[in-house]
Amino acid sequence: MLDIHCHILPDFDDGSSSMEESVEMARMALLSGVTDIACTPHFEGRPGFLEHTDTIARRFDAFSQALAQAQIPVRLHRGAEVLCLPETPLLASEHKLPTLGSGSYALVEFFFDESYAYMDQMLSEIASSGYRLVVAHPERYGAIQRDPHLLKRWARQGFALQLNKGSVLGAFGPRAEQTAGAILEMGLAHLFATDAHSCHSRTPHIGALREWIEECCDEDYAQILLQRNPRRILAGQRLVGED
Ligand SMILES: [Fe+2]
Repeated sequence: MLDIHCHILPDFDDGSSSMEESVEMARMALLSGVTDIACTPHFEGRPGFLEHTDTIARRFDAFSQALAQAQIPVRLHRGAEVLCLPETPLLASEHKLPTLGSGSYALVEFFFDESYAYMDQMLSEIASSGYRLVVAHPERYGAIQRDPHLLKRWARQGFALQLNKGSVLGAFGPRAEQTAGAILEMGLAHLFATDAHSCHSRTPHIGALREWIEECCDEDYAQILLQRNPRRILAGQRLVGED
């Protein structure tokens, strides 16, 4: 399985607090069946945040070396989780947004209380600069919780909808859990990720998620959610069903 949303880089944001914890998170992920992890620290989508790009790259290289030394054979991929701000479309137009793996997918998130109209406008503007988009945890946004059917438009536009492990397991409360269920029932979810932040809570262990998905989805859809679409996103390929 592949995890394309994970705050595993050490000591950068509210994710892993040390190199030791990052290595432990990778070990935990591997033991649960994860083969690939995209390192996705929070990245504020504004010009002033670009100064952190070098730091992220250095942390990625150091973490790769630490995993090699610890002989943990998890493949790491570069990435970030871009917080969409009013300046983000400008950064996109200058092709300065970080992407996932080797392709042109950007993982994007919003403040939880943004309006649907704002999010919709931002996604369209960013996509018009040539990025493909993965929308992080739509089930956690208030506007989507009030009306999950709004996601049909984003799915039609080719935006990949990524649900969080913690949402279906109840970690973010009943509204996120119910919304994630509704999105799955409509067949609108494209993939899952852990959105892990540590090895104590919000962990990268994927075992309980896999069991949950295998119980509630057929085998084909489970494969698409945990393997086929995440793999395609990291390679910059079209989602399952688009080709
Ligand atoms: Fe995240």
